[in-house]
Parts: sequence; structure tokens; C-alpha cells
Amino acid sequence: MSNRMAAATDWVLARLPVDKVWREHLSEYYAPKNFNFWYYFGSLAMLVLVNQIVTGIWLTMFYKPDAALAFDSVEYIMRDVNWGWLIRYMHSTGASAFFVVVYLHMFRGLIYGSFKKPRELVWIFGMLIFFALMAECFTGYLLPWGQMSYWGAQVIISLFSAIPYFGEDLALWIRGDYVVADATLNRFFAFHVIAVPLLLLALVFLHIVALHQVGSNNPDGVEIKKNKDSRGIPMDGIPFHPYYSVKDIVGVAVFLIVCSVILFYMPEMGGYFLEPDNFVPANPLETPEHIVPVWYFTPYYAILRAIPDKFGGVLAMGASVFVLFLLPWLDRSEVKSIRYRSGLFKKAVAVFVITFFVLGYLGTQPATPVATIFARIFTLLYFAFFLFMPFYSRWDKDKPVPDRVTENRSLIASFQDHCPKAKSLFCQVTKPVAFQLKSGKTVRIRVIDFQGIVYVIKESVAQFKNKK
Ligand code: HEM
Repeated sequence: MSNRMAAATDWVLARLPVDKVWREHLSEYYAPKNFNFWYYFGSLAMLVLVNQIVTGIWLTMFYKPDAALAFDSVEYIMRDVNWGWLIRYMHSTGASAFFVVVYLHMFRGLIYGSFKKPRELVWIFGMLIFFALMAECFTGYLLPWGQMSYWGAQVIISLFSAIPYFGEDLALWIRGDYVVADATLNRFFAFHVIAVPLLLLALVFLHIVALHQVGSNNPDGVEIKKNKDSRGIPMDGIPFHPYYSVKDIVGVAVFLIVCSVILFYMPEMGGYFLEPDNFVPANPLETPEHIVPVWYFTPYYAILRAIPDKFGGVLAMGASVFVLFLLPWLDRSEVKSIRYRSGLFKKAVAVFVITFFVLGYLGTQPATPVATIFARIFTLLYFAFFLFMPFYSRWDKDKPVPDRVTENRSLIASFQDHCPKAKSLFCQVTKPVAFQLKSGKTVRIRVIDFQGIVYVIKESVAQFKNKK
């Protein structure tokens, strides 16, 4: 660096400590060395956030927030604007990708107990982000001014009118008119393009600051700050940059491949990402046969419809999201990671995941009497997971937690540990082969052994005949 350049850099750094921020949050931020697959989704969420903001800016250049022009302006973007179709699909697919990534990110928090002390605030900021994300998607969905945009907003806003005393006035205040109309579109546009994105950015900033204050959790749920070396560096930690910044690029590459396949071959995802009814302009005089929200809202929508009373349904739906805030105080187990928790917790999580999927499916279906009964059963199961958590998490007979983080086992190795029969079968149908590399190093791998396969088949047939 020339002297002038060095002097200019010093001048800036004396006034703006970019180097300090870089060190504290990247090159000298020590993250546990055992991060696994589940730890990709935080950085992916950031990537999707950037994608939504950048593509959103471009869409705003051509979109018209006017009830008479909105639908046509979206069609104009799709047909006439150069690359407009790509930008729009990147934004609409990005919205669904956001929820996929955030749901997986939240699930990681659930299974590894990342919401527990000292990370309660990280979780609370995460939940606020989740609320903001829901508001962002809800306001955004009105903008194309299609049939589902219009009627979806009509249904959701009218839910507020179920609140006693001031509900009707509140719904009117939100809409700015007696029905969803131009005034509603204008204010939703303002919230979607500026108010909520600013809030989201601020919350993501606080989420990361709160996380870096206490440090990251990991798949073992072991606090790495408890074991430091003489320099004060956690012995189980590695600098985030370059180790995880490079590792995250692998996740980004895979994620972008999957997103590109969706974007170029199935951008509507069979009506789940962009609903067929939304290709018809909004018509206040014609209600679509089934008003269904986009897939990421359907579990809560199923809970709403499961309750026979409108206000009760609204309360249950609100509670189904709000209860997640309380997770740090509902889970009473001392142990964080699911790896060292008993079968009871694992079974509860498994039932919860199934419940979430079933409710999601039921939310996409017409509310027939049979579907409603199922929705009620699964709504009860959904709430039971949280309400009984203080009890079953205390009864848990957890396993001893190691002092230091353990090595991550490969998927095949973990499978073999759990299933010794599979291991012996694997050994029978493969054989070891040694290769000499150019460097002179010998590498041993297992390749398929056809004789072994024939032997296993013959043995199985013989055993089967003997049993008969
Ligand atoms: C825009 C959405 C979000 C972004 C960009 C984001 C970003 C991140 C990043 C970069 C990390 C650190 C890397 C990692 O642990 O994966 C992280 C950690 C975390 N996030 Fe988020 N997050 C988002 C939403 C959420 C939500 C909705 C929740 C839960 C309600 C949440 C809960 C957590 C928790 C508990 C951790 C700490 C995990 C651990 O240390 O094991 N986040 N987040």
C-alpha cells in the first residue's frame, strides 16, 4: 500500500472503526467448530433478505400502486419489461424461500435449545422478525391486485372486526374504506416497500448483535466460552471468517441451484407459490370459490377455521404464533440439545412436526366437516406441545452432556451406529480398494462388490425358505 493510501486508511479508521467491527464480528468471532447442516439457514435468511430488497427495488420502478393500474402493471413487468419476469419470479419465489429458510432456522433453534439462557433475547428478536416477515408477506400479497390478493386481504382484515367493542372501527381504520379498496392498496404499498423492510433490517441487526454478545450455540448445546485457552480463546471455537464464511458459500451454492430450478421450471410451484386465482384481476363483485392463503400461512389458517367462534378463532390463531415467544420459559430442561434429551422430548418434537404439516395441508383444503374435525384434533396437539412442555421437559431423563463439543459424525456413520445390521450389510455388499495417488499417498475406499450382493441375495432367499 502506498504511503498516501495507508494514511487515508488510518484517517478513516480513526473515525470509523471498520477494522474493529470486522475483527469482533468476523475474523475474531469464535464460533463452535461443530456447526452442522442446520447452521446454514441463518446466512441463507440474510441472502434471501438481500434478494427481496434488491428485486423489490426493481419491481417498484415499474409497479403502480393504484387499484385501476396495479394488476396491469404486474402483467407489464412480466411481458414487456426487460428481464421483468425474472425479477418478479425472483421476488415471488424469494418470499416462499424466505419462509422455508426461516422455518428451518427456527426448527434448528428448537432442537438444539438455542432459545434457552443466555440466548432468550436472540430468540425474542427472531420472533419479532417472524412477525414482521408475516406482515411483509401479507402486505405484499395485496399488491398484484389479483382475486386472491383482494379476497385474502378482505378475509384477514375482517378478522379484526371480531374483536369486541372496537373491532369494527379497527378493521375500517386498517382498510381506510368500507371494503378493501385503493386506499388499502396505497397503505399496504407504503408498509411493504418501506416501513416493514426498515423494521426487518433493524431487527436482523439487533438479532445478530444479541447473538454475538453471548456467542453461538451448537449441536451439542455446550457453552464453548466455558473452556478457554491461555489467550482467552474458546478451545472449541474457530474464527467465523474464513472458516464459516467459506463453508456458508457451499450452502449458498446448493441453495441457489435449488432456487434456480424452481425459478426457471416451476415458478408457481403448482399454485403454492403463486395461486391460480391471482392471475385474474381483483373483482369486488365475485368471491373466489375457496379463499386460501399462501402455504406458509396455512397452518395458522387451519387453526383459525378449527374454532367454531370467529373471535375464538382469531384468538387461537394469534396464540398459535405468540406461544412461540414463550419457548425460553416453557422448556424447563437443563439440557439444550436434542442429542442429550430423552425419548419423550424427541417424540414430542416429532408429533409437533407432523402436526404442523397436517395443519398446513388442512389449511389449503376446503373446510368440510371431516377436515374440520381433523383440524380440531391437530390444533389441540399443536397447543399441547407447548402447554405440556413445562411438565414433560422436567420429567425428561436427560443423558449426560459432554464438557467439550463432540465431532460431527457423517450421516452414513450415524446411521450405521444406530443400525448395526445396516453396517454389516454395507460391509458385505462393498469391498475395500486401495488407490495410490500421484503424491504417493494411499487412499482406501469401499466400492460395490457384485459377488457380495449375489451372496446377500442367496442368503436372504435361503433364510426366507427356511422360515417358510
Ligand atoms: C430475516 C430473518 C432472520 C435472519 C436473517 C437471521 C439470521 C441469523 C443468523 C445469521 C444467525 C447466526 C448463524 C446461525 O446460527 O445460523 C442467527 C442465529 C439465530 N437465530 Fe436467526 N435470523 C432470522 C430469523 C430468526 C427467527 C424467526 C428466529 C426464531 C424465532 C431466529 C432465531 C435464532 C436463534 C435462536 C439463533 C441462535 C442459534 C444458535 O446459536 O444456535 N432467527 N440468525
